[in-house]
Amino acid sequence: MAVPERLAVTQEARSAVRGGEGSVPWVVIHRCVAVAQRLSGVHLNMLDPTPLGIRPLQTNDLPLLHRWFAAPQVSRWYRTEATLSYDGIVAKYGPRIKGQEPVQPFLIMYEALPIGYIQTYMFDDVGACPNLFLDDTDVAGLDLFIGDDAYLHRGLGVPILHRFLHDVVFGTLRATACVVDPERENAGAIRTYEKAGFHRLSPGQPQDTGPSTVLMRIDAPEVRG
Ligand SMILES: CC(C)(COP(=O)(O)OP(=O)(O)OC[C@H]1O[C@@H](n2cnc3c(N)ncnc32)[C@H](O)[C@@H]1OP(=O)(O)O)[C@@H](O)C(=O)NCCC(=O)NCCS
Repeated sequence: MAVPERLAVTQEARSAVRGGEGSVPWVVIHRCVAVAQRLSGVHLNMLDPTPLGIRPLQTNDLPLLHRWFAAPQVSRWYRTEATLSYDGIVAKYGPRIKGQEPVQPFLIMYEALPIGYIQTYMFDDVGACPNLFLDDTDVAGLDLFIGDDAYLHRGLGVPILHRFLHDVVFGTLRATACVVDPERENAGAIRTYEKAGFHRLSPGQPQDTGPSTVLMRIDAPEVRG
């Protein structure tokens, strides 16, 4: 049966985005749209950040967390978690929920809906990278993702980070600085951290974690003002 013209165009567009012959990398499309929006002043699909919130992760959120780790936009960057069974997620995140481990887990909320996950920890408490920060002892780390793709790439990444840094990392933890290490290929995360005020640490500095990641840092006064 002949494919109606409009449907054929849609299929062609989808295949171009998803891959295949003549496909355009998603990152290129994303940057083109972002530049067009910036130049035109018209931001399509952007969401009002006012309804954003953060609340502690609970045990009954774990099925949702397990589903999110399998989502393509998350599993690409959280490869270990993506391989875990539901029981594996319970074994890893249950102790964090009960406060038995130094990693503090939270859900990102939009209005009353959970849309993603964010966590923080003090590097000293988790015993990671002991000689990474030289004289700095009060350095926190954080990780986040938007699990519900209806809320992805809609301008919420930077306000989530601002809220979390202000209220939790530099609000309730004793952190004086926060460091993140997105993968070098994760252009979206690097851009989001940069827009939120994180600075790249130069390659070759003692703090550098390796060629596959970009180490980025923000200090408490930059957030508290
Ligand atoms: C990182 C993440 C939380 C950011 O949220 P988001 O909804 O994409 O963020 P925003 O819409 O606020 O975008 C912030 C900036 O990043 C840019 N950006 C987002 N995705 C991008 C991509 N794939 N490539 C290039 N730039 C991208 C946006 O254009 C925007 O910059 P601009 O205002 O200059 O155009 C989200 O993309 C995510 O969950 N990614 C998957 C998990 C992940 O990578 N986590 C971080 C691990 S270190």
